[in-house]
Amino acid sequence: MAGKKGIGSKVRKWTEERFNLKQVVGLLLNIFPVIYGELDQRLDIKEGLQKLLKKPVPKHVNFWHCFGGITFLLFVIEVITGIMLATYYKPSAADAYNSIKFIVNEVPLGWLIRQIHAWGANLMILCLFIHMLRVFFHGAYKNPRELNWMVGVVLLLLSIAFGFTGYLLPWDQLSFWGTTVGTEVAGGVPFVGRLLLTLLRGSENVTGDTLTRFYTIHVMILPWFTAIFLALHFSMVKRQGIADPL
Ligand code: HEM
Repeated sequence: MAGKKGIGSKVRKWTEERFNLKQVVGLLLNIFPVIYGELDQRLDIKEGLQKLLKKPVPKHVNFWHCFGGITFLLFVIEVITGIMLATYYKPSAADAYNSIKFIVNEVPLGWLIRQIHAWGANLMILCLFIHMLRVFFHGAYKNPRELNWMVGVVLLLLSIAFGFTGYLLPWDQLSFWGTTVGTEVAGGVPFVGRLLLTLLRGSENVTGDTLTRFYTIHVMILPWFTAIFLALHFSMVKRQGIADPL
């Protein structure tokens, strides 16, 4: 199609207008061995890395064992694209919607970063469920890995909370009513429902205060908790090894 450019050439043009990629790569290739050599001489990085990477993968590990790692990779992508979005996003009732419009229409490649963040979130939940089902059907939750399964459940809840709080941030009709219904469900919990609903919303209704709360939870509280529970999860996997087949 004449005149219509693909994403590849758009990205290339955007990059070429801003910096000389060849020079940057050349510079990095020149600097890296100097720094690395000095560090390795003092800290034996190479030996440490080789020890870590030469640990053989158990024979029974197959395709289905990859989904925990893929979930983690997607989480890292969410953190990176989330930080990029936060540099332009304005978390207030007056500005949130327009700042998203600005990211999508004006910020170079902003639309791409937003889509990667949104699709990445959905894919992460999908991979997380496949990972959980894999662990379940392999019986890998059994003794001695019960505690790691429980840590996993916390990670699942944290991931769902990421999705729920992030959904409100565009501050459009869909997110407003989605959050209204979602918090209404929390309000239906016996005994503590009303308290839970007001805690989440910041008042009786979904307002700018709810947006501030959800933004704080999304970018300041959940990432730290997730990082702590991921560290626990991985250290237990390292200590206990991958479960043998049933
Ligand atoms: C952000 C979410 C999560 C990440 C990034 C993650 C990552 C991982 C990784 C990389 C492993 C190593 C083996 C593999 O990949 O299968 C693993 C193992 C394990 N995960 Fe997760 N996981 C998450 C959530 C969960 C959930 C929701 C559960 C269960 C409720 C769970 C339970 C387990 C258990 C029991 C193991 C040990 C399995 C074995 O030894 O075969 N994880 N996880």
